[in-house]
Amino acid sequence: MVYIPLDSSRESSVALLREGNTFISTRCERYDTDIFRARLMLEKTICLRGEAAARLFYDEERFTREGAAPGLLVKTLFGVGGVQGLDGEAHQVRKRMFLELMSDADIDELTRFAAEHWQQAIGGWQRQKQVTLHPAVQLIHFRAVCRWAGVPIDADEAETRCADQAAMIDGAGGIAIRHWQARRARKRSETWMAELVEQVRSNRIQVDEDRALFRVSWHRDAQGELLTPQVAAVEMLNLLRPTVAIARFVAFAALALHEHPTWYETLRDNDTWLEPFVQEVRRVYGFFPFLAARVRDDFEWNGYHFSKGRRVMLDLYGTNRDPRSWERPEAFRPERFEQESINAYNFLPQGGGDHAVNHRCPGEWFTIALMKEAVRQLTRHMTYSVPPQDLSVDWSRLPIIPESRFIIESVRPVI
Ligand code: HEM
Repeated sequence: MVYIPLDSSRESSVALLREGNTFISTRCERYDTDIFRARLMLEKTICLRGEAAARLFYDEERFTREGAAPGLLVKTLFGVGGVQGLDGEAHQVRKRMFLELMSDADIDELTRFAAEHWQQAIGGWQRQKQVTLHPAVQLIHFRAVCRWAGVPIDADEAETRCADQAAMIDGAGGIAIRHWQARRARKRSETWMAELVEQVRSNRIQVDEDRALFRVSWHRDAQGELLTPQVAAVEMLNLLRPTVAIARFVAFAALALHEHPTWYETLRDNDTWLEPFVQEVRRVYGFFPFLAARVRDDFEWNGYHFSKGRRVMLDLYGTNRDPRSWERPEAFRPERFEQESINAYNFLPQGGGDHAVNHRCPGEWFTIALMKEAVRQLTRHMTYSVPPQDLSVDWSRLPIIPESRFIIESVRPVI
């Protein structure tokens, strides 16, 4: 048996909070390893990094997600009873529901709705002195996804409901105020959504049968039972909240356009480079740094012992910039997506493995499509200037965001 390096016999949670995204990769460098042990959030944890480790992590026979996510995340980001914590058949059935909502027609429709909301927003921005892009795009995406999902939303309600989705995302890695704001936002959102699910089921509101609100409300689990209104609400929020979260990638896309003006010029009239560009934004600015699972039964891997029940954390941040998979990983180079060998285990901005079998994010196609639309809007449908502001990114913050949230001014629509 090979010894797994031990980070520190005491708690490493304070270091995790202090260092944020770089916590695992810093230690992997320090101990010259892809695996080490640490005590995190009062629990012995094995931390893993790199493509080979990701292949292991996504072996469903070896790991379970049940009870793996830290309680702080479940109470803010995920919610209780959602797909993220399911295994086996229960997971497959629930996951199918999500994947069936992500057809090409759905992707096109959501993108079209987002484009319309961008156009309306740009019309209003030209009358404002400045616009803070991150919250503004959150609202664009929230309006678009509610429309796509069949969620009725009054104009005066949209901003507060959207702010709750944003609080759940921003509070996911926070402590103190950010954490408590996220918990309250989740409570309010679940109550709102559970009420809508009950209204659909009792025919008090009419929603088209192909809309997500209808389909989630009437979804049956592996035992043929309807979801409880609370769990159906959690799954509806698993569609709304992450679509709002895509605005964070849009803020980083705007940052990348600003820092790499040649890419701005290229993308103004070139569709070919849109996808490599947004993929590189997802790689460099992935804001979901780690994933957690638990060992199902004792096993050995490369001589290392994994004991039943042990929590394991996979480093997405470090794997997305592992020099064994990526050439000059610190450089922003969209062209790498044409040249380097990328697979489901070395590129993990939204998890890895197989969408249908594993817990890999079913929203990747929505994400790529809405990011491409955002880049089209920023480069082709408006002009703007970027005033002096603090554009730094604090990598110890969970989740990352440009400090100023990316402020633009002198917005003019391009007709
Ligand atoms: C799962 C990130 C957008 C719905 C995940 C996972 C990550 C992630 C890291 C976990 C993967 C794993 O456990 O192996 C992101 C990021 C997004 C995004 C960074 C962009 C902002 C979306 C969108 C949707 C979505 C747009 C839906 C509209 C989900 C669901 C799961 C998930 C339902 C759970 C899947 C499962 O447990 O099988 N996402 N996601 N996500 N995501 Fe996303």
